Amino acid sequence: MKPHLILIGYMGSGKSTLGCTVSYPLKQCLIDTDKWIEQKEGHTVSEIFAAHGEAYFRQRETDCLKAMFQEREPRVLALGGGTPLRQENRDLMKQLGFTVYLHAEPETIYERVKGDKNRPLLQCDDPRERIRQMMRERDPVYREAADYILKVDDWDLKRLVNELQEAYRHETAGHQWPQH
Ligand code: S3P
Repeated sequence: MKPHLILIGYMGSGKSTLGCTVSYPLKQCLIDTDKWIEQKEGHTVSEIFAAHGEAYFRQRETDCLKAMFQEREPRVLALGGGTPLRQENRDLMKQLGFTVYLHAEPETIYERVKGDKNRPLLQCDDPRERIRQMMRERDPVYREAADYILKVDDWDLKRLVNELQEAYRHETAGHQWPQH
């Protein structure tokens, strides 16, 4: 089977929006891991964090990745920003498909997510500093996990979709991804 197209990056980098838009020309359904978990649990991400804590949520992310091996068609997967942090998840991602890191500067991210109440990790006194610090820690991990880096500060959706499609088609032409 052709590999899934996997989008990673910090909160607010545009994984869901770009994933939804690119899913049409690729004719591959989008699976947003946050939404997948919310549906299974019957609660929002914020509610799951509040009721069970972050570790529980992180385990559900791993469950979600494992479930992706059962999909019969290649998909576009928009992963939660924290999913690639676990080594186990990065190993699963390598088997599942072609991973693209949507890279944005901290200030771009801050402008996109400020005032958003649905991101529990940013409900703090100084979200701008929190973003800077978390991005410093996460950037090397995202880079390690990625097969391709797409810069998204300049948000020209048409151009980004073209570049993403081009990279995915080029890298995966004739490629049979290893299966579980
Ligand atoms: C998180 C990102 C969120 C969500 C949760 C934790 C993170 O997803 O999974 O709030 O640790 O970066 P988005 O990246 O889709 O906002």
